[in-house]
Amino acid sequence: MTKPMKVVVTRKIPGNGVKMLQDAGFEVSVSPNDRPLERAELLNFIQGADGVLGQLQDKVDEEYLNSAGSQLKIVANYAVGFDNFNLPALTSHNVIGTNTPEVLTEAVAEQAFALIMSITRRIVEAHKLAQTESSGFGPEVMLGTELKGKVLGVLGLGRIGSRVAEIGKAFGMSVIYYDIKQNGEFEAKVGAAFKATPEELLKEADIISVHVPLMDSTKHLINAEKLKMMKPTAYLVNTSRGPVVDEVALVEALKNRTIKGAALDVGETEPKWAEGLKDLPNVVLTPHIASATIEARSAMGVLAAENIIEVLNGRPPKTQVKPH
Ligand code: DGY
Repeated sequence: MTKPMKVVVTRKIPGNGVKMLQDAGFEVSVSPNDRPLERAELLNFIQGADGVLGQLQDKVDEEYLNSAGSQLKIVANYAVGFDNFNLPALTSHNVIGTNTPEVLTEAVAEQAFALIMSITRRIVEAHKLAQTESSGFGPEVMLGTELKGKVLGVLGLGRIGSRVAEIGKAFGMSVIYYDIKQNGEFEAKVGAAFKATPEELLKEADIISVHVPLMDSTKHLINAEKLKMMKPTAYLVNTSRGPVVDEVALVEALKNRTIKGAALDVGETEPKWAEGLKDLPNVVLTPHIASATIEARSAMGVLAAENIIEVLNGRPPKTQVKPH
C-alpha cells in the first residue's frame, strides 16, 4: 500500500477545509497551537509535507522550501494577499503558490466601510462616552461627518477596491480611483473617475480607502509627504497591508491634525501598533479582521483545500498566484 501524501495546516481554521483534505485521503496534521507558529516550529512542522495550508504570517522563502523538502508541491495561502511568498524561490523549487481571491471580497469591503463609518461617525469615541455618566443627547456632542456628497478615493482598484467603490456609490459619494491600470468599463458601470497619480487622489478625496497589495513599490506609499497632501478634513482607511502606510508618520499627522482621522485594520508590525497610535482619539483600530466573517473564513479554507487537492492529484490549482 502506498503511503498517503502529507498535508500540514499551520493553524486551526474554521469550516470544512480540513475535513475535505482528510476525505481526499491525505494524512493531515493541523498545528495544535491557535497562534502563528514561531519560525523554528514552522520549519519543523512543514518537514516532509507534500502540501501546506499556510498563514499570511508564514514567510515562504528558500529556508522554508529547503526545510519542507523536495517533495513539496503546493503552498496554499489562507489569504488573498501573498506578500509572504518569495515567488522566484517557489518557482525555482517547482512549488505552486495559491491564494484565496474573491471569497473574501465582500467581507473585506464591508469591513472597510465599517471602518469608514466608525471613524467618520466617531463610533468608538461615542461608545466610550456612552459608558460614562455624562452621556446623552447634546447639540454639539460627537459631531461627525456625513458620507453623502463626499469624495471617496479608492487607492487600488482590484476586486476589493472595486466593491468598496460600489458601496460608496450606494452611500451617495462621488468616487475617484487610482490604479496602475485605468478601467474604462468600471468607470462607466459605477460612475467612478480615474486619477492618473496617487497624489491627485490624495489631494481630492475626503475619505481614502487603501486596497493595494504590498510590494517594494507600495511600501510606505502613504508617507509623511503624502499625508501632507491630504485635506485636513480627510480620513485614511487601510484594510490592505500595514507597511503600505508609514505608521510613525501617520501618528504625527493625526497628532498635528494634518488629517482628521484614520481607521486601520492592518499594522506595520502586527500585532503591535506604532508608539502612541492606539491612544489617539481620532483613530479606530481593528486587529486584521477584515476577512473575519464566518462566510469568508470558511470559504477561504475550502478554496485553499481545493487547491491542494487539485495539485496533489496532478491537476492545475484553481487560484495560482501570479506576480502583480
Ligand atoms: C488576506 O486575505 O490577505 C487578508 O489580509 C487576511 O484575510
